[in-house]
Amino acid sequence: MTEPATKTDVSVSQLKCIGCGRTALPDRFRCETCRDLLEIVFPGWEQAGPYGLDAASLKKLWLSRKSSFEPIDQSGVWRFREVLPEIAEAKIITIREGNTPIYELPHCAKSAGIQSLHAKHQGMNPTGSFKDTGMTAAASFARAAGYQWVACASTGNTSASMAAYASRGGLRSLVLIPDGKISWGKLSQSLDYGAITVQLKTDFDGCVRVLNEVVERMPVYLLNSVNPYRVEGQKTAAFELLEQRRWEPPDHIIVPGGNLANSSAMGKALREMKQLGFISRLPKISVMQAEGANPLVRSVRENGGEKLIPVHAETMATAIRIGNPASWKKALRVIRESGGTVEQVSETEIALAKAEIGAEGVGCEPASAVTLAGLKKLVKQGFVKPNETVVLVLTGHTLKDADFTLKFHRGDLFDGTRYQEETRSLKPFERSPLVLEPSVDAVIKLLQSAA
Ligand code: F0G
Repeated sequence: MTEPATKTDVSVSQLKCIGCGRTALPDRFRCETCRDLLEIVFPGWEQAGPYGLDAASLKKLWLSRKSSFEPIDQSGVWRFREVLPEIAEAKIITIREGNTPIYELPHCAKSAGIQSLHAKHQGMNPTGSFKDTGMTAAASFARAAGYQWVACASTGNTSASMAAYASRGGLRSLVLIPDGKISWGKLSQSLDYGAITVQLKTDFDGCVRVLNEVVERMPVYLLNSVNPYRVEGQKTAAFELLEQRRWEPPDHIIVPGGNLANSSAMGKALREMKQLGFISRLPKISVMQAEGANPLVRSVRENGGEKLIPVHAETMATAIRIGNPASWKKALRVIRESGGTVEQVSETEIALAKAEIGAEGVGCEPASAVTLAGLKKLVKQGFVKPNETVVLVLTGHTLKDADFTLKFHRGDLFDGTRYQEETRSLKPFERSPLVLEPSVDAVIKLLQSAA
């Protein structure tokens, strides 16, 4: 395994306020002067690159680690450790996150009206969502900093991921989730991995409000995505994506938007890749939201993104049922500098797109399907051209919300909702389980009628 010869101070990271630009700030989540979020910067990169290495050497080093048996090399996050804040190897908690596949989706491409379409499936992470890439970084930092307790508010995936990484790292964890508003699969994960799991009688935004006060008063480390180490870990999905594409950027990357950290992380990674000479142009990064949880879309449309308009969020894509996203400014900066856009999609558009991704033998959870639903709109608007290259980021595994999938195929997902009228387009995708007598003839007859 080739390692950089010596560590130099060019790898040292600092915290910088995204609002007032002050640097070298103490380890907090918000700037004490202007209350804006913080991000991690690497001032030394200007002169010499990470660890004094250039893009070509880093590409070779990262690829060489793919044949290593060391846990931190087998991690699809720590394999890229030169572009992450430094954490002592002994403190790193890894469940071999990252290393997720890119799939071609030919039928979805056709349905969207473009020539080819790819999906980077972050749901293929150890706990079934993209959260693991950020969690390995932030939970490891918590352990290195000597914390015994970590906590998060969550719509289900962050909590599943945090619970797993905390337990692996010998930390205790506290989860606050909105009562009755997350999928059973995600709730069961957090219980199974050993977190103290609290269902608060409020929504995600309410859970965040409570937790922010708890961490002020108790020695508990906050692992929500305002944590800048989470964003650093999540950056590696973009490094890995570009490596998988032989460092050829796609024209478009489309991500779902909830608390808006993932889009921020993808954009930060691509900005850094351009700065370091890995790529010469930025893909357009566009963020898709559910119509019922659309604070970013509303803010862009109604005030040009000057001010966030929080909404009371309501969508069956429970992962992104968020009305007051913390990282909206970071996401907006990414959308603007990359030339991307924002769009919103309806509940039935989400359900249809999810079924189409499922029918490719890939599948994803409802929140991830907003990417395909949104792409269709962007193609119709002419924002995405039929010959352009597009990568959807699928954020969660299809098993994360089996309840949604079953209801969809049984045809009762929208029963009793105001969307019932719009469900005709979904019928061709519904595949309700069939019940037959245990008879060979009956099964053969069925096969023949289906042929
Ligand atoms: N997709 C899935 C499957 C998610 O779980 C989330 C967020 C998002 C997309 C949106 O990502 O917040 O970075 O814009 N889930 C969080 C959670 C909020 O608590 O699990 P974002």
